[in-house]
Amino acid sequence: MKILTVVGARPQFIKTAAVSRLLRGVEDVREVLVHTGQHYDPNMSEVFFRELDIPQPDYNLGIGAGTHGAQTGRMLEHIERVLLKEKPDWVLVYGDTNSTLAGALAAAKLHIPVAHVEAGLRSFNRRMPEEINRTVTDHISDLLFAPSENAVVNLRKEGIPETRIHLVGDVMYDVALYYGDKAERTSQILTRLGLASGSYILATIHRAENTDDPWRLRAIMEGLAHVAADIPVVFPVHPRTRKALESHGVIEVARIHLCLIDPVGYLDMVMLEKHACLIVTDSGGVQKEAFFYRVPCVTLRAETEWVELVKLGWNTLCCPENGKVVAQAIRAMIGRKGAEGTPYGVGTAARQIVARLGGKIV
Ligand code: UD1
Ligand code: UDP
Repeated sequence: MKILTVVGARPQFIKTAAVSRLLRGVEDVREVLVHTGQHYDPNMSEVFFRELDIPQPDYNLGIGAGTHGAQTGRMLEHIERVLLKEKPDWVLVYGDTNSTLAGALAAAKLHIPVAHVEAGLRSFNRRMPEEINRTVTDHISDLLFAPSENAVVNLRKEGIPETRIHLVGDVMYDVALYYGDKAERTSQILTRLGLASGSYILATIHRAENTDDPWRLRAIMEGLAHVAADIPVVFPVHPRTRKALESHGVIEVARIHLCLIDPVGYLDMVMLEKHACLIVTDSGGVQKEAFFYRVPCVTLRAETEWVELVKLGWNTLCCPENGKVVAQAIRAMIGRKGAEGTPYGVGTAARQIVARLGGKIV
């Protein structure tokens, strides 16, 4: 059996690490890895392949940046060409990026079955590009691997046949369990930045709704700057955000008050997350990792797909309307603990996915 995996953006490299490792240990299965090239900087791509032992991609399509239509269209054309050549039995896609949509759509049009990991998430906000990507992907997929019960409910409500839906848990939890100790053993980031455990806030921002609106981006920076007067704020800056900070003229506020660093590798990121006293983010993956390491989290959005985290009390939503609101939300969450629970499974998601795809793990 041949499984063709399409990845392209940072969180997808991390997700595929768990599944690819198992697929490589399965008899009679060959994985062909396609990297669309959506993310291409070494610290947004190559570092994850190296640190997480992901095999080098069989194809790197080198698509790069572009408007949604141009980027997705170029991916579609190139992925189709690879599919016609490789003729896989399954196409495996992750999450909700333009690479996810292009992979699923190219396969579905060629009648190649599609498996979608992280199916069923919804923000119910159609202005998010990710909401369009994941909804379309779910509806053209043959196997939908849901990370949570709530995701299963969302899929049922949209009329997806029960036989296609499989609740397996979250592959990011598998990865967190696998690499958590390695991060503690190998990462030097706390020493390098002169940080003591529990003494700083970790922030990441990259959503279009927060970066593309100058007002909101300024509100977030001002809110973080306010808090940074008391607690250092470490901020690994996504390339999209760096461009926006520069073009909206907000980079100075950030530079003066925050500890700005380039995007870090996964092991350094895990270390920064585990030892933060609080995480502020608009990232899906980082919200969950905050919970995996039981660090309270403020999500700078009006809604989240990961509703369980808010219900358990580990996460709170804050729509970043102005700096004061942001600073208040952060201060109110410091030291808070939520309830215990296992909303995203027990770390066996990858194993269940591989088994369901028909692989016998040896
Ligand atoms: C994408 C996903 C988003 C995901 C995020 C993870 C879509 C629509 N969005 O957003 O869902 O949460 O990845 O990080 O697929 N850039 C670089 N170097 C890189 C990568 C990007 O400079 O290595 C720049 C691009 O030139 C572009 C901007 O960052 O100007 C945005 O990149 P893009 O891949 O379009 O979207 P993301 O914001 O990264
Ligand atoms: N991440 C990382 N280095 C960073 C920022 C994030 O390794 O500098 C990891 C983070 O630990 C998580 C994933 O990237 O596993 C989340 O990706 P991102 O925030 O880019 O996208 P999202 O999850 O929102 O789609």
